[in-house]
Amino acid sequence: MQKGEIIVFQLSTLAKMKKEQSRYKTKDVESGSSSSEKPPGVIEADSDRSSSSSSNGIKQLVSSKDIFHWSDVCYEVQIKDETRRILDHVDGWVKPGTLTALMGASGAGKTTLLDVLANRVTMGVVSGNMCVNGKPRDSSFQRSTGYVQQLDLHLESTTVREAFRFSAYLRQPADISKKEKDEYVERVIDILEMSSYADAIVGVAGEGLNVEQRKRLTIGVELAAKPQLLLFLDEPTSGLDSQTAWSICQLIRKLADNGQAIMCTIHQPSAILIQEFDRLLFLAKGGRTVYFGELGDNCETLIKYFESKGAPRCPPSANPVEWMLEVIGAAPGSHTTINYHEVWLNSDERKAVKQELATMEHELAKLPRVQDPKSLKTYAAPYWLQYLLVTKRCFINVWRTPSYIWPTEPNVVHFFVLHLIVGVR
Ligand SMILES: Nc1ncnc2c1ncn2[C@@H]1O[C@H](COP(=O)(O)OP(=O)(O)OP(=O)(O)O)[C@@H](O)[C@H]1O
Ligand SMILES: [Mg+2]
Repeated sequence: MQKGEIIVFQLSTLAKMKKEQSRYKTKDVESGSSSSEKPPGVIEADSDRSSSSSSNGIKQLVSSKDIFHWSDVCYEVQIKDETRRILDHVDGWVKPGTLTALMGASGAGKTTLLDVLANRVTMGVVSGNMCVNGKPRDSSFQRSTGYVQQLDLHLESTTVREAFRFSAYLRQPADISKKEKDEYVERVIDILEMSSYADAIVGVAGEGLNVEQRKRLTIGVELAAKPQLLLFLDEPTSGLDSQTAWSICQLIRKLADNGQAIMCTIHQPSAILIQEFDRLLFLAKGGRTVYFGELGDNCETLIKYFESKGAPRCPPSANPVEWMLEVIGAAPGSHTTINYHEVWLNSDERKAVKQELATMEHELAKLPRVQDPKSLKTYAAPYWLQYLLVTKRCFINVWRTPSYIWPTEPNVVHFFVLHLIVGVR
């Protein structure tokens, strides 16, 4: 935690923590030993990191083996009289348990690709095949994916656990019991290593969760919804310092190791960050593919590909990503005479990708499909439950905002009169 940042707990939570701490102390005095066990609520710099090793044996987070694949995805928007192509025949796939990086220069179309794949665009023309196991995406698709947006937007008055539960209750299927959803939320807290501040108030920057904890919260809210198929993340490490970016990156790796399929845009990762990823999809301006394939150990496969296409040798001490950006002319001040998009279109690697996509479209489509008709509904929770949960959250929000309940000025009488008028209008 950085200097000047504080974690805020509710008084009732603090009282509970104090009670448990004193229970621990008495236990230690009685047994005469200095227990290595930490009392609950004690936040130490490494307390969360240390739990990561214990949670490696955790049950798989996601059991689905479905593959999401897409081919020839194009996206065009009409700007005045001109049609502008933002994505140009993009191919790719994401398999369970793998981590795919989506990279490209600023404005290349990374966020647009995530939006198109996640079925979140509301304008323009999308074309191409986007399939799950060889069959076109259906209305259950959006509910089986999670999308971690770049900005961490949360209700300030809620606690971490409450935010996860809210997401689980509303987004996990209605036939799963509340107990099971609560248990799943505890697993998410454990896997995200957030136990020591699970009851902390989200708060505002400087008085509440710090940037890393906020990013973990955003990821957790999506995980609590149990996205069976895929998790999209848009620039989860942007704006973070290198230590925090590394810790978020390791977390994402851990999620993939737990069976989650992940596609993540990332901006200029360091050599050590990129090694956490399995595959890379690189887009040049205009959403044109420059590379889609394995990264290999120490990015060997990627380096070999570009070296075989006429790039100068990658020095052993260089960051492969920075080297690649320079080679293809995407780094500031760099220039190239080779059009690496054309090179990709004519490469054997692209042929192999096309071949694999064709095989997936044919072979995976033959797999029997067990689909619950309830999963086709837009909302997982019935309307009455949505109404109940949102109203409850709203009341809690008002209750925890003292300035709202106890206004200093105008006075309390004014406050009640105002509500009478607003209420009866
Ligand atoms: N709906 C739209 N209408 C017009 N132009 C759009 C639309 N959506 C995206 N664009 C344009 O497409 C390009 C790609 O945008 P996008 O946000 O996907 O880039 P990006 O790769 O995510 O960039 P950054 O690294 O800055 O986040 C930009 O030039 C953007 O202005
Ligand atoms: Mg973007």
